[in-house]
Amino acid sequence: MSVEDKKRLELLRQELQKHERLYYVEDNPEISDRDYDWMTKELEELENKYPEWVTADSPTKRVGGKASEKFAPIVHQYPMLSLDNTYNVEELKKFHERMVKNLGSDKDIEYVVELKIDGLGVTLTYDNGVLIQGATRGDGKVGEDITANLKTIKSIPLRIKEKQKLEVRGEVYMERDAFDALNKSRQVNDEPLFANPRNAAAGSLRLLDSTITANRPLNIFIYNVGERERFTSHFESLETLRSLGFRINPETILCKRFEDVFEIIDKWETRKNEIDYDVDGLVIKVNSFAFQDRLGATNKYPRWAVSYKYEPEHATTVVKDIICQVGRTGSITPVALLEPVFLSGSTVGRATLHNEDEVKRLDIRVGDEVVVKKAGEIIPKVIKVIEKKDGQRGDKFEMPKECPECSEPISREEGEAAWRCVNLYCPAQLKERLLHFASRDAMDIDHLGPAILEQLVDSGLVKEPSNFYDLKLEDLIPLERLADKSAQNLIDSIQKSKEAGLARLIYGLGIRFVGQRVAAVLADNFSDLDNLLKTSTEDLESIDEIGPKIVESLSAYFTNEENSDALRRLSEKGLKTNVIKSQVGDSLKGKQFVLTGTLETMTRDSAKKKILELGGRVTSSVSAKTDYVVAGTDPGSKLAKAKKLEVKVLSEDEFKIMI
Ligand code: IVH
Repeated sequence: MSVEDKKRLELLRQELQKHERLYYVEDNPEISDRDYDWMTKELEELENKYPEWVTADSPTKRVGGKASEKFAPIVHQYPMLSLDNTYNVEELKKFHERMVKNLGSDKDIEYVVELKIDGLGVTLTYDNGVLIQGATRGDGKVGEDITANLKTIKSIPLRIKEKQKLEVRGEVYMERDAFDALNKSRQVNDEPLFANPRNAAAGSLRLLDSTITANRPLNIFIYNVGERERFTSHFESLETLRSLGFRINPETILCKRFEDVFEIIDKWETRKNEIDYDVDGLVIKVNSFAFQDRLGATNKYPRWAVSYKYEPEHATTVVKDIICQVGRTGSITPVALLEPVFLSGSTVGRATLHNEDEVKRLDIRVGDEVVVKKAGEIIPKVIKVIEKKDGQRGDKFEMPKECPECSEPISREEGEAAWRCVNLYCPAQLKERLLHFASRDAMDIDHLGPAILEQLVDSGLVKEPSNFYDLKLEDLIPLERLADKSAQNLIDSIQKSKEAGLARLIYGLGIRFVGQRVAAVLADNFSDLDNLLKTSTEDLESIDEIGPKIVESLSAYFTNEENSDALRRLSEKGLKTNVIKSQVGDSLKGKQFVLTGTLETMTRDSAKKKILELGGRVTSSVSAKTDYVVAGTDPGSKLAKAKKLEVKVLSEDEFKIMI
């Protein structure tokens, strides 16, 4: 290697590192993107020429390859604790009183107030100035090694000017605009959409292929340091981290007096919607590290910090129309079309009205001004109508007499909330039923999203599930928005789904009241589709866990000739129609679970699946019948309810031991 080349290579690396920092961390670029690209290219060429000089912290090596099957576990050097929550000023005052009581003086307690970024906590370890490891929080004690994915985030420095070992923690998140753009492109490609920016960030960080993560617009704010003994206060540590090149949230404020915190709370109540990313509250931390040490921590939370969570927001808007949607089982749901309004970080144009009774209860009419709120996370809900001063209103809402999709008459059974279209050939139901058949928990046919299915049904290629298995590449190529490769992928997924087995098949049929659990019980009891087709009402009644409503629904389904013929056609396609292995364990038999908050090492879906497999049940709300509430991070009101009803609450760890 020539001396010049070596010097040039070092210089380019240093310069690129500096410009990455100016651009991604300080938001203050000094050179054009073009010049940056030229320098990167030159460095790449030099590195190609001298591969022995390539180092892992080179700016050209942000994107690595694929991880093996799963991420390696990382035991955290310092536990990654969570935060205790407060929801109003009274609770926050109590927190301060505890601090005063424990520290014995109020004059000297300073607080640092930070935004609580709604993303994913991660930890980064540097040794000898080089980023050597990045991990998720996991259960707080053990996380996962996601170094390759974190290195793709350009605002994370790969090298810092600090020789001693240093661990920093922060929140990885996705900006709202970037999230919207990502979901748009996923929609076009018929890929499942992310529910919110946090899920998108979490999903992106846990991809096994870091080249995909590199294309996801992730960012980070650093909010804590591990080696506290080197600093006297939190604020000081953040200043140092900032000068080392870490991205620290610019809104972080040092409060000399506790009372100053209230002003900041008021300010962010409205302003939190004006920034580019989701903030679900504030974090209030005792500034002095000596004080923090005296206060210590429980095994879950530090005693020196607390979050202040904002109430979910409301917005007012106008109902432009009320339409009715037809679901998979023919249920007809009234939906309000709204004048678009910005609510908790996204624009809302429709809200579910649940059913006829709910519309009547709220007396919602076209033209009304209403208050909407996000229930859970994505689906907004109308919570009340604002009374008009002049009393002038539109007509009372009436359910349609016929199905809005197929114009057949609709009916509402006694004791049921929903009106239903009972026409099995209703096209709206057909599409929903087919989507359900292909869904992940049923036959798991990947690459078959609503846009493709719509075309398959409209073109007449698919009229019932068995038709999926006759599809050929030539049938798919002419479809819109389906590239050759995706068409082949779809064919492959369809073929693969033949192996799904009886339980998934039964669930995929979408028979009323037959969820995953009942489907698994049926598969276990009948072991083959033929046996199930031959079954009598008595046989079904004799199964312990199958109640009269389900028996009735199953009998109605199987005695309908159209249904049994369609099933025979399906089994002729070579699907596995026997039970794969016993799908039902019984260690959680009869136990009722509610899942709340974000689980770190599994999705809620997989937790649910596991519970069902072990014979338990999962419901969405906590009641006296609930046996266990599994609480992840940020659990919300369900946890409060569980405590009130004295229902046993399990941490993710405890839950994992149980299963
Ligand atoms: S401090 C030991 N500061 O919120 C203190 N956390 O609900 C724990 N979070 O797991 C973290 N913004 O992932 C802290 N400015 C901030 C934060 C923040 C977001 C997350 C973090 C933590 C979760 C707790």
